[in-house]
Amino acid sequence: MKTRITELFGIEHPIIQGGMHFVGLAELASAVSNAGGLGIITALTQGTPEKLAKEIARCREMTDKPFGVNVTFLPSLTPPDYPGLFKVIIESGIKAVETAGNNPAEWLPMLKEADIKVIHKCTSVRHALKAERIGCDAVSVDGFECGGHPGEDDVTNFILLPRAAEELEIPFVSSGGMADGRSLVASLAMGAEGMNMGTRFIATEEAPVHANVKQALVNATELDTRLIMRGLRNTERVLTNAGVERLIEKEKALGADLKFEDILPEVAGIYPRVMQEGEVDAGAWSCGMVAGLIHDVPTVKALIDRIMAEADEIITQRLADFQSA
Ligand SMILES: Cc1cc2nc3c(=O)[nH]c(=O)nc-3n(C[C@H](O)[C@H](O)[C@H](O)COP(=O)(O)O)c2cc1C
Repeated sequence: MKTRITELFGIEHPIIQGGMHFVGLAELASAVSNAGGLGIITALTQGTPEKLAKEIARCREMTDKPFGVNVTFLPSLTPPDYPGLFKVIIESGIKAVETAGNNPAEWLPMLKEADIKVIHKCTSVRHALKAERIGCDAVSVDGFECGGHPGEDDVTNFILLPRAAEELEIPFVSSGGMADGRSLVASLAMGAEGMNMGTRFIATEEAPVHANVKQALVNATELDTRLIMRGLRNTERVLTNAGVERLIEKEKALGADLKFEDILPEVAGIYPRVMQEGEVDAGAWSCGMVAGLIHDVPTVKALIDRIMAEADEIITQRLADFQSA
């Protein structure tokens, strides 16, 4: 399939694997790229420029296809070494960067200079337009369904994607709630030129996470996510579990007095415990409503091939039959 997104990133299928903390490692990124999508390594999971350089090198050993790096800008008292991370990205010849959180204006000149294509993840049309204005090459439009941070507007993709299509000149991919060929065709119908998946890619053979995490996603339904940290204007969609219910009780009890420190036990240091040790109830970890559409743990290639075959079938048969009837 050819779209402006496949052309921009030099990939075969318009499918991107969004950056994911403690999931977006070389194993998953290379598997996605080898299957014809765009795999993404998550810079902040590596933490330091040195470790990121090693992870990029490791990924390169596993694929000769293009892959990208996600750089997430988080409010932090001790910010990561962003200049060092970008230096490594440029020096290691990466050609695609996914940014998220604050807009990447500060870093665009050096990325452009190095001929790196930037796709910025946005949860609203106004942020997408801002990304376009500052010179991003594409945006990933993240609806309210998404795993991770859906922003504070609560607009789902059935509205957000066509709204983005009404306003944007640059190409965009849908993100949030995407799982299969139906998602891809619907995204294309609404004006996107590809789709980004997070949660769905965790439940694959190659995702370098504990089997308990994959099983938790297969077991979960679309009713099993919760929104946390709304009061802190840092909303996150997570899979419900004992730790998350504890957190929500604190939010209810403290109301407007809630501070980040109050919920530290449920949010700090949770990812390695969940993703590596398999303690899926340890606390809050991002998960999309799309968990309800995840019923198996295929290889990444089987998943992507299935998506493309299903999309083809929908376009050439189901929709064509409606039209000719
Ligand atoms: C476990 C997990 C960790 C994530 N970590 C990050 C991250 O570090 N940076 C980021 O930009 N997005 C992160 N995301 C968001 C994904 O990149 C993607 O935008 C989102 O999962 C799309 O929604 P979906 O889960 O419904 O596919 C994460 C998502 C999940 C499920």
